[in-house]
Amino acid sequence: MSKKLYIKSFGCQMNVYDSDRMIDVMAPHGYAQTDEPEEADLIVLNTCHIREKAAEKVYSELGRLKPIKTARERSGERTLIAVAGCVAQAEGDEIKRRQPMVDLVFGPQTYHKLPGFVAQALADEEFHSSTEFPVEEKFEQLPAPSHGVGPSTFLTIQEGCDKFCTFCVVPYTRGAEFSRPANAVLDEAASFASRGVREITLLGQNVNAYRGEAALGQGGQWSLAQLVVALAEIEGLERIRYTTSHPRDMTDDLIETHASLTKLMPYLHLPVQSGSDRILKAMNRGHSAQDYVKVIERVRAARPDIALSSDFIVGFPGETDKDFEQTLALVREIGYAQSFSFKYSRRPGTPGADMPAQVPEAVKSERLAALQALLSEQQIAFNTSSIGQKMAVLLEKPGRHEGQIVGRSPYLQSVQVDTNEQDIGRIVDVRITEALNHSLRGKIAQETDMGIQGSRIQPCVS
Ligand code: SAH
Ligand code: SF4
Ligand code: F3S
Repeated sequence: MSKKLYIKSFGCQMNVYDSDRMIDVMAPHGYAQTDEPEEADLIVLNTCHIREKAAEKVYSELGRLKPIKTARERSGERTLIAVAGCVAQAEGDEIKRRQPMVDLVFGPQTYHKLPGFVAQALADEEFHSSTEFPVEEKFEQLPAPSHGVGPSTFLTIQEGCDKFCTFCVVPYTRGAEFSRPANAVLDEAASFASRGVREITLLGQNVNAYRGEAALGQGGQWSLAQLVVALAEIEGLERIRYTTSHPRDMTDDLIETHASLTKLMPYLHLPVQSGSDRILKAMNRGHSAQDYVKVIERVRAARPDIALSSDFIVGFPGETDKDFEQTLALVREIGYAQSFSFKYSRRPGTPGADMPAQVPEAVKSERLAALQALLSEQQIAFNTSSIGQKMAVLLEKPGRHEGQIVGRSPYLQSVQVDTNEQDIGRIVDVRITEALNHSLRGKIAQETDMGIQGSRIQPCVS
């Protein structure tokens, strides 16, 4: 390989998956990945448009890259700079206007054509952009995944969103909902498993709205639950996760699968955004706070040890102190193992941006601090309750310190385990010895210490 590709991902896990696929499509054209932009022939920023801060990051990053490109030009080398992902989709040619040194702009649905874009830009030295949603499917055109394959790997099964929450840009940046055929997903997962992948996280903006063409010539469509059950048959694949789900799509069959399938990990990221019915309505979420509580009750009945997480937005237009109190009350009622919370960010083109009663920044900050204090308290309590437990940990990569490997518990907690690199890829029983705010520490349990006692992982009963 003679050329170098530097790629930086912002935003969600789907961008991480897409960046790995861009590395895959460029490899046959002689591009090897580098961590140094200074030596790159091609720089790709795979961007996120979800909040203003995220979207603005691309411009500060471009500012940082400008002198690098100029320095290489002076020494007679060319660096192509490409902006990909959701900012590219939303802002298109505007990016070139704000930062003229950009050579390529393309959205999340056209990155499989990257080699062609690069060849064209190198040949004619013109700016090129591609932000259409092409009819032909990018997934069919991508090579079999190769880059970024470790013990735990992402697999995108669904893209886009038809729900149009009034705060959100995703329906505009990723387009309409699309589910990959089940056969394609099963083949990709089997290929991962044959290369040592033990855990797959199925990705989609609305992953539980999955409706893919059924596999095995069955005709019709499969739900996420049917897909998960089929994936669990793949030899070597021990753990399945999925994210992100919508409360409206938590179907009976999916909840039942949490009860019946031990390979489906006991962790559910189910964003609620707000605990106020008035705000949920204004957000166009399509459910009430009570509907959400009922879904959680059903999930917990199916899998009592399930760890829950959510996303929250504070300061959506019209949110009063009383609405916000209802969010805090809901958090207290549910009890989360982990959560993500954000100040509402006004996104151009979304209905929320034009709503009256925008909440002042200072109020948003106050509410966010109060919510995060509560969520952090819950996370610490959850992690502390893990001390003394024995958990099956999938060991993924070297830790910060020598003699430590980092893995994940079934509940998605990061666990630092005292062991060595030979164990990477193994699922081991770990006795948890210490709980930090965002992670756990533990030691591999002795063979004589293998009883189920003390473990939160109980056999499932439906
Ligand atoms: N599909 C997922 C969410 C995808 S976006 C769902 O429906 O839950 C990830 C998270 O970003 C959202 O859950 C929301 O909490 C947050 N988010 C999206 N738009 C936002 C905005 N305009 N301001 C602040 N946070 C936002
Ligand atoms: Fe955005 Fe709502 Fe779709 Fe999630 S469900 S991606 S928050 S529009
Ligand atoms: Fe961001 Fe696009 Fe993901 S806006 S959160 S990168 S779908």
